[in-house]
Amino acid sequence: MHSLVRTLVVAGALLLQAVPQSWGTSQGIFLPRVPRGQIAAARALRNPLPASDEMIASGKVLFHEKGFCEVCHGADGKGLGGDIPSGSLKGPLPRNFTDKAWQAARTDGELFWILKNGSKGTAMASFVPRVLTVEEAWQVVLYVRSFGRP
Ligand code: HEC
Repeated sequence: MHSLVRTLVVAGALLLQAVPQSWGTSQGIFLPRVPRGQIAAARALRNPLPASDEMIASGKVLFHEKGFCEVCHGADGKGLGGDIPSGSLKGPLPRNFTDKAWQAARTDGELFWILKNGSKGTAMASFVPRVLTVEEAWQVVLYVRSFGRP
């Protein structure tokens, strides 16, 4: 009897710890990455390129080769969360780009802003203009968007 009570207390305590933590993580993914003072301008940016097969194909090559995005975001865009030891990247791990709720939470302009400025305090660096041109960044945004489609 005693041990049953103890088991229940321990299980209850674990549950209390686990629930808010997992909520925190899932909310954390949706919190804007662009600083408050710049988010309105970032959201107003429109991708000047059409989401044509050609543009997405160009973005795909940039993602897997020149931009080396796949090193951290995974070849499948799902991030390397399950594959890398926690703490091996600075700050939060990359998103799962196939997550439709995450896709819906961001505008193209916000994704472009991150490519240009990086995400402060994380492993996501600034890629424009050092690695990618402005046009290439918009192409890679189109490819990132394509992960959210079946
Ligand atoms: C060194 C590892 C690394 C590389 C290389 C990298 N990223 Fe990231 N990226 C991250 C991490 C970690 C985050 C999450 C940062 C955060 O939580 O704010 C991120 C965030 C992002 C975001 C914003 C996600 C959001 O929630 O708004 C976009 C868009 C993005 N990366 C695209 C790219 C693209 C495109 C490339 C290649 C040109 C690239 N990344 C290369 C690690 C990387």
